Amino acid sequence: MAQLNIVTWPAKVLETKAEPVETFDNQLKQFIEDMHETMQANSGIGLAANQVGVLKRITTIEIPYAENRYESDDDELDAKQWWHNKRFTFVNPIITKKEGKISAQEGCLSFPEIFDFVDRAAEVWVTAKDENGKEFEVHATGLLSICLQHEIDHLDGVVFITRMSRMKAMRIRKKIMRRGSLVTEGEP
Ligand code: NI
Repeated sequence: MAQLNIVTWPAKVLETKAEPVETFDNQLKQFIEDMHETMQANSGIGLAANQVGVLKRITTIEIPYAENRYESDDDELDAKQWWHNKRFTFVNPIITKKEGKISAQEGCLSFPEIFDFVDRAAEVWVTAKDENGKEFEVHATGLLSICLQHEIDHLDGVVFITRMSRMKAMRIRKKIMRRGSLVTEGEP
């Protein structure tokens, strides 16, 4: 087990499309274990391989029930669901159907301290393979639905600020760039 380094925006790998996984071997299993460990160590509920610099279509998700870090005007988001506290690994995930609309505050380990509202489909149906290459399907609602859409976007090289209004995304970009230049100026 090893923790992986999380890359932050504007790293190019975050805006590059990831390739499908074709070989399900021990190396893949080890990498998935490391992704889960990294996600937990950083208190994340979802992680895409792009975020650790690997362009493979893999995402790990685990949403603790106790921590309602997301704020929404939808009470359904706060109720305990079957997918809470479950360890999910999605390899080569594909959204086959979307329904409804939901808006919730999202964060991202690649955008430290940035939290804002994003519009998503309320429900998604996703087919994927597990770490052994076995196909499965989930019907995701609430936070799992939001998280899956956020992570599958990562695999397509789409970061969550591009799902916000142009004005909002620009404000966030500027904020991060300013922060980055401050750090650079402070270095010898
Ligand atoms: Ni993210």
